[in-house]
Amino acid sequence: MKRTTDPFEIDFRQKFELRDKVIVITGGCGLIGRAFCEALAQFGATVVVADIEVAQPEEFARLLEKKHQRPMLGFALDVIKKTNIIELKESILKKFGRIDGLVNGHQNKTHLKFEPFEQVSEENWDTVVEVNLKGTFLMCQIIGSFMAEQGHGSIVNIPSTYSVVAPNQNLYKGTSLGCPAAYSSSKGAIDSLSRYLASYWGAKGVRVNMITPHGVWNHHEEQFEKNFSNFSPLQRQSYNHEVAGALVYLMSDASSYVTGDNLLVEGGWTVW
Ligand SMILES: NC(=O)c1ccc[n+]([C@@H]2O[C@H](COP(=O)([O-])OP(=O)(O)OC[C@H]3O[C@@H](n4cnc5c(N)ncnc54)[C@H](O)[C@@H]3O)[C@@H](O)[C@H]2O)c1
Repeated sequence: MKRTTDPFEIDFRQKFELRDKVIVITGGCGLIGRAFCEALAQFGATVVVADIEVAQPEEFARLLEKKHQRPMLGFALDVIKKTNIIELKESILKKFGRIDGLVNGHQNKTHLKFEPFEQVSEENWDTVVEVNLKGTFLMCQIIGSFMAEQGHGSIVNIPSTYSVVAPNQNLYKGTSLGCPAAYSSSKGAIDSLSRYLASYWGAKGVRVNMITPHGVWNHHEEQFEKNFSNFSPLQRQSYNHEVAGALVYLMSDASSYVTGDNLLVEGGWTVW
């Protein structure tokens, strides 16, 4: 890092540049994942879209390649399968020869959305915890360890507002929606894991941070949108593209002294 107190010596725009950085995004075909991929690509990154087969990550990577006129990679995997992640790492290194960033944007919760706590089966609990937490652990273990060995890298994990505060049950009044306890619990553990790794890999030049999105609009029920606005200081839901600026910052040298942080993109939800 440049040892100076003179800001005139610094190119602050350059700090946000992602050119030459190879960044892997799990859940890259998801609502937020797609915005993450496109935003990073616009700042020059080579994007690796990693998602389950049915989400067609290769297809989305082809769209990014076409738009940005440079090679990207789409890779079908299941984040709970270590062998898949080892294959992912090998494919990236074969194609691009480097890995500079990892974003764990995958999630599993939807099949539990309507299941009251009293009725959650052990099997459903295990599935959510396995995909969200173990998937993040394995990705960090395989890709993060590689970056620690090379001596630099940036990891962003995604907890949830509902690992920072409990869900306000009034939010769901008059709607068919809800937030499962397994989701909050798995996300709380992702927060702890991220802080652990920030400390563990700090000396190896790998920064580990979090982004907490909130209420990202996806054609929600009208009543939900209304309830949400009443509880939100900004009085509205967010959009996926509003989460992406935080990722550009955390993946770039603009955040070179930031690690172990949870950047809340939640419209002030937890402020009152
Ligand atoms: N949408 C929100 O309002 C919100 C709020 C807080 C936190 N988050 C978190 O942000 C992240 C992205 O959320 P989203 O709304 O884009 O979710 P999404 O459901 O749209 O996308 C999740 C992606 O993960 C993929 N995925 C699921 N299981 C996988 C597996 N086993 N292996 C690999 N990929 C798998 C899915 O195919 C999907 O593309 C998630 O971690 C979510 O918990 C979202």
